[in-house]
Amino acid sequence: MGHDTPNSEADDCNGRCTDCPSDGDEGGRPSIFTDTRVTLARRDYAKLFATVGGLTAVGSLAAPLAGLTRVFDRSYTGPVYSDGINLVDGDGNRVGESTLSEGEKLTVFPEPRPGIERAPTLLVRHSEDAYGGETKMEFTVSGYAAYSKVCTHAGCMVSNEEGETLVCPCHFGKFDPMDGASVVGGPPERPLPQLPITLSSDGNLIATGDFEGPVGPGGD
Ligand code: FES
Repeated sequence: MGHDTPNSEADDCNGRCTDCPSDGDEGGRPSIFTDTRVTLARRDYAKLFATVGGLTAVGSLAAPLAGLTRVFDRSYTGPVYSDGINLVDGDGNRVGESTLSEGEKLTVFPEPRPGIERAPTLLVRHSEDAYGGETKMEFTVSGYAAYSKVCTHAGCMVSNEEGETLVCPCHFGKFDPMDGASVVGGPPERPLPQLPITLSSDGNLIATGDFEGPVGPGGD
């Protein structure tokens, strides 16, 4: 399956090859690969990171990108997440505390609302004492941590894994999700920004704010 990237179970080639199976069938195991909503064409990644990466300055970018983006409506200038926004899976189902077991990963999204349809986010779950280093523990809950899935190098989707390390298939940028998604290999110069999350009163994962830093490339 796939090609010879390190231990990739199902590569996300972003359209760079024709060898790989489509996303969506990992035997029912929650995975960052069971993400039918992230099968975007390369041009869509470009739109994504151009739009999301420039979100804080979107005022000047909104107009030229207006006809291109499928992630944000043309008039959208707000945050990707905000306090109380539910995290949902690729089918739009809200993610609950029991959705993942320790060691599992899943691509999630902000629950759609006007202006926002998708903004891929990596949700991981580990034992709480497994986290350290740069992880903002106040942003985690019940062993869950969430990071932007948009690589900070050139905006590809971080969709492979090597052990517990998150791997970007484009230039093999590597991020440690138990160390605040810090860079542990490859060309990225910034970690994946972490999303502050908590559990709602009905037991679902919600954001308590937006990503801690700029999404995608740039933002230094
Ligand atoms: S885009 Fe991810 S390593 Fe280059």
